[in-house]
Amino acid sequence: MAKQKFAKESVTIMTEMVLPNDTNTLNNLMGGRLMHWMDISAAIAAQKHCNRIVVTASADSISFKQPINLGNVVTLRSQVTRSFNSSMEVFIEVTAEDIPARKKIMTHRAFFTFVAVDLNGRPIEIPELVPETPEETELFEGALRRRQLRLVLAKRMKPEDAVELKSIFNLDDKG
Ligand SMILES: CC(C)(COP(=O)(O)OP(=O)(O)OC[C@H]1O[C@@H](n2cnc3c(N)ncnc32)[C@H](O)[C@@H]1OP(=O)(O)O)[C@@H](O)C(=O)NCCC(=O)NCCS
Repeated sequence: MAKQKFAKESVTIMTEMVLPNDTNTLNNLMGGRLMHWMDISAAIAAQKHCNRIVVTASADSISFKQPINLGNVVTLRSQVTRSFNSSMEVFIEVTAEDIPARKKIMTHRAFFTFVAVDLNGRPIEIPELVPETPEETELFEGALRRRQLRLVLAKRMKPEDAVELKSIFNLDDKG
């Protein structure tokens, strides 16, 4: 198995058109359908990074600011931001395009976490991720604090052990 992989190797672009069966009664894309597409696109990016079976461990809070309309073309771009031991964070950006009207808007951003597992569902080690561009480096650096926040919220990490979070909220001993 490769010990290191570049962030760009995981880039996954998925395109869907919003059809009547994807919409609510206002003719807008249903949130659940979008989350399904996000999960698939992000899982493919995670698989590209580790070449293993992956399972979704968490999806950070997703807010729906703008409705996506029937007939829009939805593009999901997913990329692994950082890998840890068996888990990796994936950043997903969603854009919606009304092609006949020549309008394209960024509608959603989200972070999902996937865990690479063996055939018995046990977590296994994955390659380290190497960022190259300034954007990839920024996402890589922020991933540690986002991981600590989600693990504290999931009660998998004690708040006092979340060193990166303490530094943002000035909770260290210096006050
Ligand atoms: C995710 C899963 C494999 C973790 O297994 P586990 O026995 O708890 O394993 P561990 O405690 O060793 O954790 C393994 C990794 O998962 C990460 N993890 C576990 N729960 C997490 C959560 N809620 N959010 C983010 N990461 C999480 C851990 O931080 C750890 O990461 P690391 O190895 O990079 O340090 C297991 O909980 C699982 O199979 N869940 C169901 C997955 C699934 O079915 N997804 C589809 C949802 S319907």
